[in-house]
Amino acid sequence: MTVEESQLNPIHALYEPYPLTSRYPKDRTPWISSFEQYKAMHDQSINEPDVFWRLRASELVEFDTPFHTVCSGSLGEGNVKWFEGGKLNISYNCVDRWAEKTPDAVAIIYEADQPGGAKSVTYKELLDQVSRVAGVFKSFGLEKGDTVAIYMPMVPEAAITMLACTRLGLVHNVVFAGFSAHSLAERIRDSNAKAVVTSDQGLRGGKIIHNKKIVDEALLTCSSVTKVLVFERTGAEVPMQQGRDVSWSKALSEQNEFVPPVFVDSEDPMFILYTSGSTGKPKGLLHTTAGYLVGVAMTTKYTFDLGKDDVFCCSADIGWITGHSYGVYGPLSLGVTTVIFESVPNYPDASRFWKTVDEHKITQFYTAPTAIRSLRRLGDDFVNCTDLSSLRLIASVGEPINPEAWVWYKSVVGKDLCPVVDTYWQTENGSHLITPLPFATTTKPGSATFPMFGIEPAILDPNTGEELTGPNVKGVLCIKKPWPSIARSILGDHDRYLTTYMHAYKGVYFTGDAARRDEDGYYWISGRVDDVINVSGHRMSTAEIESAIIQNESVAESAVVGIEDEITGQSICAFVTLQAGLKESDQIKKSIIATVRTEIGPIATPKNLILVNELPKTRSGKIIRRILRKVASGEADQLGDLSTMSDPSLLAPLVEKCCRWV
Ligand code: PRX
Repeated sequence: MTVEESQLNPIHALYEPYPLTSRYPKDRTPWISSFEQYKAMHDQSINEPDVFWRLRASELVEFDTPFHTVCSGSLGEGNVKWFEGGKLNISYNCVDRWAEKTPDAVAIIYEADQPGGAKSVTYKELLDQVSRVAGVFKSFGLEKGDTVAIYMPMVPEAAITMLACTRLGLVHNVVFAGFSAHSLAERIRDSNAKAVVTSDQGLRGGKIIHNKKIVDEALLTCSSVTKVLVFERTGAEVPMQQGRDVSWSKALSEQNEFVPPVFVDSEDPMFILYTSGSTGKPKGLLHTTAGYLVGVAMTTKYTFDLGKDDVFCCSADIGWITGHSYGVYGPLSLGVTTVIFESVPNYPDASRFWKTVDEHKITQFYTAPTAIRSLRRLGDDFVNCTDLSSLRLIASVGEPINPEAWVWYKSVVGKDLCPVVDTYWQTENGSHLITPLPFATTTKPGSATFPMFGIEPAILDPNTGEELTGPNVKGVLCIKKPWPSIARSILGDHDRYLTTYMHAYKGVYFTGDAARRDEDGYYWISGRVDDVINVSGHRMSTAEIESAIIQNESVAESAVVGIEDEITGQSICAFVTLQAGLKESDQIKKSIIATVRTEIGPIATPKNLILVNELPKTRSGKIIRRILRKVASGEADQLGDLSTMSDPSLLAPLVEKCCRWV
């Protein structure tokens, strides 16, 4: 394509890697500055993984005892181990070593919900805080291997708590503080957490979230928890249960002794993070220590070209894997500054992100396509009233980014001076799988481009499992070789881990996504092939939402499908039949929505709730979701084969009902 053509049609253009602009620091060169360098390193990571990873580990992570084996086990057997024999401590790597080398460097900038309330924490201060919280944990009697649940707003204390856990070899289980008491309780029970760390309240977009109240409700059904540490975010009076609940400020002020890091084995558990799978039960993915840290440090460094003096901002909540890997552990393991953003992109107005960039001179900014799409819709003025000249790189994660949003991000936010980095990965992976490298990869809007170091993707025929080699192929996306930060198991259900990821296709890791490799070898992720839907980058299972809906006493049956949505990527559409004798009413609809919010949380609220007399089923009684998906998407004229449907006369009223809102 010529330059003129690409200017005419920017969404189909190829964008060559940026030459270094005036924004690039004079005293630095990019870590990876050409595609040849990327290729050479990628080739080595695949052909000589031991050499490659030994180098990365020694460059990025300090081990207290060196490891003797780089990698053992296989994906097929689901028994992968990395850096065996080694001993290390995550919080030492993310805090102590920088507190020694650069004590006054800023570790965390906190952009509070209310503009003007920013604060920063230096590495020296971070060490002091982490040590104090670790001391409090010790006073609770917590020991290596115990689990701590974290239900916190986006405040530095959330990261401090995570680091305090890893300081003692405690396993953290962060639960997004938008989940209901019921979801929180389920995750606390499943992980057998002994303590919970929360806040009195949270603040998001000016709204108060009653964290402590939700924790209190959850704990009514969790007998494993004996202690609750309550951070004073707003200072509101909240009930404190004697003997169980402890004030953060009081407990920390009583800590006088430095708590040294506990060095743990490379394969010791580091954290559990729940995510949705195809069934109703969330999966607690188990990540271990050394592999996770090496994978995250390596990808943070290369994907974002992160280095000295950078101010990195990842807008994801710490309740998600992105917040873990790139909000906390990645940047801190490299000793740079991370920005913790407590607010929402449109509070108090739609220039909030960009004003935050200006205020803290953010150099790399990482957010989700849904935020980019909704800000784009509100117009360029909210961007153009800010300066943004500190930005050197802009990145995206969580769902496919449509080329129009990509081009807007690049030209309006990045002023055509910042590479756009679309990173593809999952909770299970710990770190990036497929991503451009900012100063090496020619990008195509909407494509995550090429595999990260150590990643050997394969596209398989979904039916035969045969690998589709060569260009221009479409199929399911799998990974052929183990990489350090892959989750090692599903807590309490290793069989589910094996069947979901390792045995779906022989000898490879199955991502659950479909992808295409184009004529130039670029990967294009098209989305999930299972019953997982992705709403604003939040992953949910249709089965989980269905089982929440049927908790409502008016409901007889429900079927949930994901349909395309211009802003949120996908949206939740729920079809529901009522118990005999009940009539459709607004009140019933409201009560069903309220049930979903109580059972899971506001993020699972269906955008469309359709009450129908009957759901389309096969003769053997299985709901035909394909039909519901088509009808809900306004594609009732493309229903395909209906021969298995038990009662085709249901279709007309179903279509009629949907036409009213499609
Ligand atoms: O479908 C893919 C989509 O998000 C899923 C993983 O969700 P989660 O585990 O919550 O992690 C999200 C953040 C890492 C994937 O299976 N996904 C994530 N990033 C992209 C994406 N789809 C397309 N392009 C991406 N960049």
